[in-house]
Order: sequence, then C-alpha cells, then structure tokens
Amino acid sequence: MNSDYFFLFLHSLLRYGVLVSVLLAGLMALRGYLMQRPILVGERMVAIIAMVLCHVQLVVGLVLYLMRVKSYTPNFPSYTFWKFEHIGTMIIGIILVTLGRSLAKRAKEERAKQLRVAVFYLIGLALMLWATPWPFREIGHGRGWL
Ligand code: HEM
Repeated sequence: MNSDYFFLFLHSLLRYGVLVSVLLAGLMALRGYLMQRPILVGERMVAIIAMVLCHVQLVVGLVLYLMRVKSYTPNFPSYTFWKFEHIGTMIIGIILVTLGRSLAKRAKEERAKQLRVAVFYLIGLALMLWATPWPFREIGHGRGWL
C-alpha cells in the first residue's frame, strides 16, 4: 500500500469520528443550555474528544496536502476546491471548534460554557459538512463513502 493511499484512507475514515463527535458535543451542550442544567462529566469529555479528533484530522490532512499539492494543477479535477477551498474551510471549522472549547473554559457560568460550545461547534460542523466531498455531490464524484 503506498503512503498516499494510506493517508487518504485514514483521513477519509476519520471524517466520521470528527463529524459525529462535533455534532454530539454541540447538541449535548445545546440541550444542557436549554434545559438549564449543569454540565455532565461525559458531556465535557465528548467536547474534548471532538476537539482532539479535529486536531488529528488537521495533521493527517496537512500531511496529505503536502504529498499531493504538486499535482493540483489547473487540469487536476476540481483543482481550486482541493488547492484552496477544502483546506481553507476545514481549517476555519477546526479553529471555531478550538475557540469554542477555550472560550467555554474561560466562561464563569455553566450556561455560558454550554452556549459557547453549542454555537462554535455547530457552526464549525456546518462548514465541515459543506466542504466534505460527499459522493452524491459533484465535487465528490468518483469518491466513495469511505
Ligand atoms: C476536519 C474535517 C475534515 C474532513 C471531514 C475532511 C474530509 C475529507 C474527505 C472525505 C476527503 C476525501 C477522501 C477520499 O477521497 O477518500 C478528503 C480529502 C482530502 N483532505 Fe480533508 N477533511 C478535513 C480536513 C482537512 C484538512 C484540515 C486538510 C488540510 C490541512 C485536508 C486535506 C485534504 C486533502 C489534501 C485531501 C486529498 C484530496 C486529493 O484527493 O488529492 N482535509 N478530506
């Protein structure tokens, strides 16, 4: 198996861990906020795990980008998407998640913590979903679910 292929597979698989954990953390924080109840230990763990998975995905994505950027010439399929949009949007999404978590840590009240995680994680998630080359989108044509 060549290393390009290995990193692409790892990155593709990790998308589910990233997207599902960011979604769960965002929804749990929103529920806690709306129900006006304290943060549970499990909820805080999910928010931390989601951020760590985002950072692992960032590293794997950067390695992949450095391996492949030479081939992103104007005749590469969807070249602007791969050269700029995917990486740019995903990095903004990951920054939002990181910011949500660190602003939540700094907030004094429980509800403010929950609101920050909910807002930042869910906006980050929307960006990530948008920039993912799903097989049903033109940009993901020829790529699978894994
Ligand atoms: C954080 C959320 C991210 C998600 C959900 C995600 C998802 C994906 C998916 C599904 C693919 C296609 C995999 C395949 O064809 O099997 C892909 C490819 C790729 N991603 Fe990401 N990605 C993320 C972040 C990043 C970041 C931060 C970078 C760069 C710093 C990056 C760089 C790349 C590169 C270079 C490719 C390969 C494109 C090619 O085929 O040449 N990704 N990503």
